[in-house]
Amino acid sequence: MSRAGVRFVCSACGGSAAKWQGQCPHCSAWNTLSEVALAALGGPRSRAGLAPAALVTALGDVAATELQRTSSGVDEFDRVLGGGLVDGGVVLIGGDPGIGKSTLLLQSLAAMAGRSRVLYVSGEESVGQVALRARRLGIEAATVPSLQIASEVDLDRIIAAVEHERPRVLVIDSIQTLYSAQLGSAPGSVSQVRECAAVLTRLAKQSGISLILVGHVTKEGALAGPRVLEHMVDTVLYFEGDTHSSFRLVRACKNRYGAVNELGVFAMTDRGLRGVANPSALFLSQHGVDGKGGPVAGSCVLATQEGTRPLLVEIQALVDAAHVPNPRRLCVGLEPQRLAMLLAVLSRHAGVATFDQDVFVNAVGGVRIEEPAADLAVLLAVSSSLRDRPLARGLVVFGEIGLAGEVRPAPRGQERLREAAKLGFSRAVIPRANAPRQPIEGLEIVAVDRVEDALGVLRKS
Ligand code: TYD
Ligand code: MG
Repeated sequence: MSRAGVRFVCSACGGSAAKWQGQCPHCSAWNTLSEVALAALGGPRSRAGLAPAALVTALGDVAATELQRTSSGVDEFDRVLGGGLVDGGVVLIGGDPGIGKSTLLLQSLAAMAGRSRVLYVSGEESVGQVALRARRLGIEAATVPSLQIASEVDLDRIIAAVEHERPRVLVIDSIQTLYSAQLGSAPGSVSQVRECAAVLTRLAKQSGISLILVGHVTKEGALAGPRVLEHMVDTVLYFEGDTHSSFRLVRACKNRYGAVNELGVFAMTDRGLRGVANPSALFLSQHGVDGKGGPVAGSCVLATQEGTRPLLVEIQALVDAAHVPNPRRLCVGLEPQRLAMLLAVLSRHAGVATFDQDVFVNAVGGVRIEEPAADLAVLLAVSSSLRDRPLARGLVVFGEIGLAGEVRPAPRGQERLREAAKLGFSRAVIPRANAPRQPIEGLEIVAVDRVEDALGVLRKS
């Protein structure tokens, strides 16, 4: 039944319907529609008396003001933000529970507190718990008098406090815990999350406050609440990494003020998060690459690029005889579909068959690699494991592989090579188009055109 005054909004895609349905008519997700009062969506109103002339301006008449950036006080955080927090900018940070969102934000606020007024609003913890965490992080309360904290979930009270305190930076941990008494629905419901975020965003834009919202993620890893949340804000950051290891990656997946896919790398210590300035070392496992214990079969070092930063990551493969009719193909940190494609290329163009083998591929250190330039490393790791022959020590590779068996160039080849040389790698197998014009000191370049040529390296080593 459709009722006047309400709409049903999908929490997955943000689409709306006039009546409740089990499946969203827009994105076909199940059980995602929930009731929203039409008033909250901005119902119809009369347009009489709204002068259009005052609304539009010629682009040339608008002064493009330079962005005012404030350092967040944490270098790696600044890096993902594209140089720091922007006045009036809204950042949304998502990530699994316990990954370190609250820790990072408290550390950052404490570092900023010496320069500007900052306010941390927790809807999840009491002020006592926040103070306890601050103590654990080694934040001396006496040295940061302008770090204000509050434990509150009522949106109106938070806004009153913000108007009174006038902070430069406001953190809301988390947006899902807030509720506005003006909306009938329960805290955490789609309409509440959306409305609270909209009100806070408006406040930030009007008063020039940098706003940071913490968002919960669903089981599938997407930010809980409507997708519109991501549209509303200027920057969306995700915390990644495996809670069992101490490394945490913060990735920008939308940024109106900087590059996307920029990566911040942290290590979780007993005194909070510490930025990792040279992350490449993290993603190389202990054997084979640093000279201890000698190289092992099935391991290949990839020079990848994350945002503006080159990163060396070890790709490991294990190929083992399958005892089931459908051999397993498993990828951790890499694209599973791409692995299937690479195995087909390997079979067709290099005559290496894996139809009767289980193939497991892993990117060491819990890092996730999406770029196709990882192809060559995956292929060499798989062949190395299959033949039980280690690749030579000090070898680094990158390059995309096409269906015809050609090795295609990757962006920013020079930077990848320089990073490898810096870390003491001595040989690079790369696409011919990426071969540097000037030699790079200490690095022997093997430029290849086709998969077969690349596998030749394996044979020789
Ligand atoms: P937290 O910031 O509370 O995660 P989130 O806000 O994303 O849910 O992170 C808490 C985890 O970090 C918890 O498992 C304990 C660990 N931790 C440390 O290892 N060292 C520290 O100094 C702190 C404060 C937390
Ligand atoms: Mg938290």
